[in-house]
Amino acid sequence: MQVLAAVFLSALALSDVQAQAPAPGLTLDVLHWWTSASERRAADQLAQQLAQAGVLWKDAAIPGGGGMAAVKVLKSRVLMGDPPDVAQLIGNTLTDWADIGLVLPLGEVAQRQRWAQVLFPTVLERVSYKGEVVAAPLGLHRINTLLFNQRLLAQAGVAPPHSWAQFEAAVRAVQAQGGRALAWSDEPWQVATVFEALLLGEAGADLYRELVVQRRPAAWLDPRVEAALLRLRWLRSLAAEPPRERVWSDNARALWQGQAAFLIMGDWALGELLAWGAQEGRDFGCAALPGTTGMHLYSMDTLAMLRGPRDRASVQETVAEVVVGVGAQLAYNRIKGSVPVRRDIDPAALGPCSRDSWETFASARSQRLPSLAHRMAADETIKDAVAHTLWRYLTQAQTSTQETQRRLAAVIRAPSAER
Ligand code: GAL
Repeated sequence: MQVLAAVFLSALALSDVQAQAPAPGLTLDVLHWWTSASERRAADQLAQQLAQAGVLWKDAAIPGGGGMAAVKVLKSRVLMGDPPDVAQLIGNTLTDWADIGLVLPLGEVAQRQRWAQVLFPTVLERVSYKGEVVAAPLGLHRINTLLFNQRLLAQAGVAPPHSWAQFEAAVRAVQAQGGRALAWSDEPWQVATVFEALLLGEAGADLYRELVVQRRPAAWLDPRVEAALLRLRWLRSLAAEPPRERVWSDNARALWQGQAAFLIMGDWALGELLAWGAQEGRDFGCAALPGTTGMHLYSMDTLAMLRGPRDRASVQETVAEVVVGVGAQLAYNRIKGSVPVRRDIDPAALGPCSRDSWETFASARSQRLPSLAHRMAADETIKDAVAHTLWRYLTQAQTSTQETQRRLAAVIRAPSAER
């Protein structure tokens, strides 16, 4: 990161010289990875809200679920001295960029809008770094989400499962009807997304924290990790066709069209179903993944305002102010499938799945756990190493579960060893 910082700062200086008397414009270049139907609509919704405040959103979307490609493009744009004005920068990627001075502090907006009072404390903590507010929070996704096709469950005569025993019975009933139980993708980031939700269910919140937040290598040898890995393999075996790397929205479509009864995915899949006109309660429903009721495994989307050759600070501050405002929060999150980051909204305005997500996140009794697969708990390198290890475990039948636990223990480094 230090080398990167030096290159970035010199690139910035160079562009300063090259820039010809830049006039602070109202058009902002926004880099993100929202390209599916619902993601696109959600981004358009933000663009509309911003247009009302006189800010024009110039789209720089980089396709690729989970932001795999977008994060790389951002890095190369920064190195070339051409950072976007606004970027979807989340979790540890955000703090890494803040650390090298790329990110505009938003303390004044946060003060004006009383973020300390209106945001969930966890949200404010996640956008703060070394005493500064470094990004505008957009929405909270729940990773431990099980979506189901209502019609297929009704045909099979089963209720939405809340335990693994019920889930297994539902799988048998769906298969007996000739249906496919689970939509599956071998994309490493999707495998990691499913796995961490299983892990939380098997391990419980305390061990999950040891594994993922404190990242104690020895904890990865625990039998509960083994149980989660075995369940991951079993789930993949339900795909009922040679598993392959499918785009996540194709799996949401398979659920919607009745080609699969279940999908385990972050609730951006809920947004996708809604975008196609599916109705919650009639066509599909959702529940916390078995073993994770009352727990919220979260990924938070955030927009960071990047420093660049032109001074856009006041327009960037307007962006932060608009996206955290109640109107944008409700409109955007309803489309995206995530929930507002504010604690002062009325949950009655949300659909059943989102209401449960918001209420669980808000409850003093619930457990809020950061997602590893979506950069809330570790940097890009560790996240990718974990995803790749899981992918190998699934795609190479000879890889044993114990060996995979040892590999996971080896790629997980304690937070203090990171920089
Ligand atoms: C997550 C992101 C979501 C959604 C998803 C699929 O990392 O937080 O907003 O876009 O990836 O691409």
